[in-house]
Amino acid sequence: MRKIFIAGNWKMNGSLEQTNDLLTAIIHNLPKEELSIDCVVCPPSPYWDKASLIIRESNSPVELGAQDITPEVKPAFTGEISPAMLHEFGCKYAIIGHSERRGMLQESNELVATKVDVALSAKLHPILCVGETEEEHNLGLGLDVVAKQLRVVLDSVCISEMQAAVIAYEPVWAIGTGKTATPEHMQTMHKHIRSIVAEYDATISSEIRIIYGGSVNSKNATEILQQPDVDGCLIGGASLKAQDFSEICHIAMGL
Ligand code: PGA
Repeated sequence: MRKIFIAGNWKMNGSLEQTNDLLTAIIHNLPKEELSIDCVVCPPSPYWDKASLIIRESNSPVELGAQDITPEVKPAFTGEISPAMLHEFGCKYAIIGHSERRGMLQESNELVATKVDVALSAKLHPILCVGETEEEHNLGLGLDVVAKQLRVVLDSVCISEMQAAVIAYEPVWAIGTGKTATPEHMQTMHKHIRSIVAEYDATISSEIRIIYGGSVNSKNATEILQQPDVDGCLIGGASLKAQDFSEICHIAMGL
């Protein structure tokens, strides 16, 4: 049984005040005791300190994640943030290979693979994002593109360590557009992703969480989470609204 994984990707949104208000409201809306799902919020790094304090003080089961990770651990790397720093703020997860970074910063499959490796070596949980662009989707290349993105990572990490990872299928054309993939499309893609992982390790394939991201909200979450190979959601826009995000968590807890 795979535990449902719900993560909020706050992207470059927020302020100290918004971090306080949003996280406090989310925590207030969720049970205080251990949750039946994993619930993670990923604020921008300047707000980790505030966020981890709020979580600690309220003794909440909500967890923290980063939005990226460095590909290098040597300190002579201006502007980067080390895995040790993530640990210090209680960040257990790191989104890696988000399409906004692959697209705007030209992050290659190889760089993404290195980052996943760095995260796993540092005992962090990577949330590895894969997904095809609209153009690739229209050309019918989605399955191949995602397979390639995944294989480059799986070829370069120790496969047994991937049990710590979560894979996020995020079709680029569905991110922030309101155009959610159809349930059939996501189930096909998630099954495809699981079958590729199975080529490397059958047990990891059956245990790894494969979550969906792309215009998830409290209205479509039930149908999305009912797909047999969808084990959770990575949520952008709706994770910035405490009511929506908490409602999605409650839907997941009720399944
Ligand atoms: P969205 O973003 O929910 O706003 O579509 C998802 C993401 O970018 O992870």
